[in-house]
This record gives sequence, structure tokens and C-alpha cells, in this order.
Amino acid sequence: MSKTISGFSKLSKAKKIEWIVSTYFANNESAKRILEQYWNSDKKIQQLHDEFIENTISNYYLPFGVAPNFLINGKLHTIPMAIEESSVVAAASKSAKFWLDRGGFKTKVISTTKIGQVHFMYFGNPDNLKAYFSSIKHKLLQDVKPITKNMEKRGGGVIDIELRDKTHDIKGYYQLHVSFETLDAMGANFINSCLEQFAKTFKNMALEFDDFSEEEKNIQIVMSILSNYVPDCLVRAEVSCKVEDLNEDDDISPEEFASKFIQAVNIAEVEPYRAVTHNKGIMNGIDAVVLATGNDFRAVEAGIHAFASRNGTYSSLTHAKVENGIFYFWLEIPLALGTVGGLTGLHPLVKLALELLHHPSAKELMEIVAVAGLAQNFAALKSLTTTGIQKGHMKMHLMNILNQFEASDFEKATIIDYFKTHTVSHSAVVEAISKLRE
Ligand code: MEV
Repeated sequence: MSKTISGFSKLSKAKKIEWIVSTYFANNESAKRILEQYWNSDKKIQQLHDEFIENTISNYYLPFGVAPNFLINGKLHTIPMAIEESSVVAAASKSAKFWLDRGGFKTKVISTTKIGQVHFMYFGNPDNLKAYFSSIKHKLLQDVKPITKNMEKRGGGVIDIELRDKTHDIKGYYQLHVSFETLDAMGANFINSCLEQFAKTFKNMALEFDDFSEEEKNIQIVMSILSNYVPDCLVRAEVSCKVEDLNEDDDISPEEFASKFIQAVNIAEVEPYRAVTHNKGIMNGIDAVVLATGNDFRAVEAGIHAFASRNGTYSSLTHAKVENGIFYFWLEIPLALGTVGGLTGLHPLVKLALELLHHPSAKELMEIVAVAGLAQNFAALKSLTTTGIQKGHMKMHLMNILNQFEASDFEKATIIDYFKTHTVSHSAVVEAISKLRE
């Protein structure tokens, strides 16, 4: 039976586990054993994980894989990916290999501006507010100097502050809409600290602005927070080759392949039901690299899906065409990533992932992540428009089914060998295991 508890976060880890297992589990010992099984034997590493969040009772493992052979702007990369879905790394590797022989991936960071907003209410004369904003803008920038000093030394900082009138949406609603350059940091803490200082200065200085009436002096700050919508922090990744060089498959001509592939992309451009799945496949690649490199995949997800709907209908993030006999396939996405700060200097596997990528700048990481998304989409569409997705998926899923049945090494080897020439389905695998065990 569930029950409430107060002061849980103050309990020791052992006491927390004791409470959890005795409250929620029929078999206390087994639940405790599973939680403890995932503790790290290195006490320092475990303490690091314990301290990432509140109330850590165990660690949640995801496979950390790598996809080699990614040629990006002429430079080879092995891309780290943290993901549980069986076919994703295999698909990325396959795509990388395919494009390795066709000139590789070309990328370009288009822009790197991030946004934060102070949302506030003001019910006076709009012209007085505008005059106040103009008079105070310099002071706003002055007051955040202690926060922006270091970032400015490296070439970043606050780009601009605008006053935005949102009163047509909500009575009395205005914003300070602030743009930032945060260089190699994702910048969430930097941006939020600046915004909170802007809010303070903006509210306090209003009390001294002579042109305001007593009522107008009362600016009500609602909240100050960065935006995860970053349409001006944009990266492009592209592949291209002659149509005739496109296909390795004898069953379909390169021209037919290009045409079916482009039809598949066109469908995702106009049909939201398909676009969501199409983009989900892209996110398989993107999230896996974002996670492996210690970045905030929820922020990336939210920003990218908002971007996918920027024209009013949810649509494909990738596009494709044939022009003068050349097949082009490309992706443009917003990505706010960091290669310094956050987990990047703390989590040993994240540090390793960044070293594997030759210590990229945030811009380089944007390019690598975009490539992972494009590669993933290429692999998915290539399968979908030719063999169908299940052939590859089920082949990769075979090991999961075997593990569900606790197959021995011998059983695994025998059954994997059998399915080299037979179609994998859940029931076919179950039947094969049963036969073997007879
Ligand atoms: C599965 O995780 C992703 C796909 O559904 C993507 C797609 O349909 O394009 C295969």
C-alpha cells in the first residue's frame, strides 16, 4: 500500500531504499538486490551519480555504443550514441558507410543565437513604458556585467534586449526579449542568471522613473527564463551524389530508388501523421548523441519539434530533391548544445565521448549531431522504401527475444545462424527456441 512520507530527501540512501522496498515490493530482498546491482563498485563514481540529482537510489544504464566511418566535411568521426533501441546504432553505421563512399556529409552552422525572456505585466501607458525601457537599457546591460564579464572576454554575452508588446494576446503582458551568444556553453545557467538580474533592475529602477505615474511604477515580474525554442541557433547537414551512384541494390534501379525516397520525404512534408514518425526516426540519432555527450535532450526535443511546426503544420525536418542528375538530401534543425559546463566536465563517460569526438566546439557538436539525425533518417527511408523496416528491425531485435528466454550462448549462436536464412518474427523465434530445447 502506498503511503506518504515527509523528510524523505533527508534520509540516508540505505534508509530511502529500506522505505521504498518495504512500502512497494512484495519481495524486499529481491528489489533491494536489483537496485544495488546497478551501483558502481567505485565509490567515487557512485557518489558522483548520487549527487547529480536528489534521492538517487540506483543508476539507470543505457547501452553506450559507437558508429564509426562518419566522414563529415572531409574529417572522419566515430560517433558515440547512448540508446536502448536495438537498430539505431546499426542503422547509423550503415548510413555512414554508404555515404563514406559518396563524398560523406557536408555541414554548416547557420546561426548560434539563443533567446531568454523576462515576462512581465504593466497596465500603464505603452509610450511611457517604451521611454522607460530606452532610458534603462544601458543600466540593464551594466548590471549584468559581473555575470557576463568572462563570457564577453571569449566573444560571447548579451547580444540585444528588446521590449516586446504582447498585449494583443494577454492584457498588460510585455516581455524583455533577450538574445545571447553563449559560445561553447549550452548557456542555460548563464542566460537565466542574466535574466533574473534584468528583471530585478527593471522592476527596481521603475520606482525612480519620473515619467511613470504611481500605478505605472508597479511593474509585476511574472518570470524570467531562457527559451528552448532556438530557431536562430541553426545547423544544416547535407549529403549528395549522382543519382546513378545511389543504389547498391539489384532489385531497384538508382532512379527508382531516388524517386521513391523523395516521395517518402514529400509525404512527411505534408502529412503530420507520417511527419511525426519520420522525425522520431531522426531524433533516434540526435537524442543518442545528445545523451552520450551529456547534453539536455529534452531541450533539444522541445526545440526541434517546435521548429518542425513553425509554419503552422507539423512537417518533415529533412528534405530531398534531384537536380541535374544529382540527388540531394538535407536537414536543418535548431540545436542548443554545450561542450563545456553542465555534465560535460563531470560525467566520466561524457568526457570520454567528447574526447572520442576530438573535443569539439559547440558548433562542431551541432554539426555532428545533425549528421547523426540525417544518417538515421536516410537509413530508415532506405529500408522503408525498399525491403521494409521489419527485416532489419527484427534482426536486431532477435537478441532481445533470445535474452527474454534466457538463451544460453550455444542457443543464441544456433538460432542466430538459423535466422540468417529465415524471416525473424517473435513467434518464429519462440518456436525455434522450443524446438532446440526439445
Ligand atoms: C523507429 O524507431 C523509427 C522509424 O519508425 C522511423 C521512420 O519511420 O522513418 C523507422
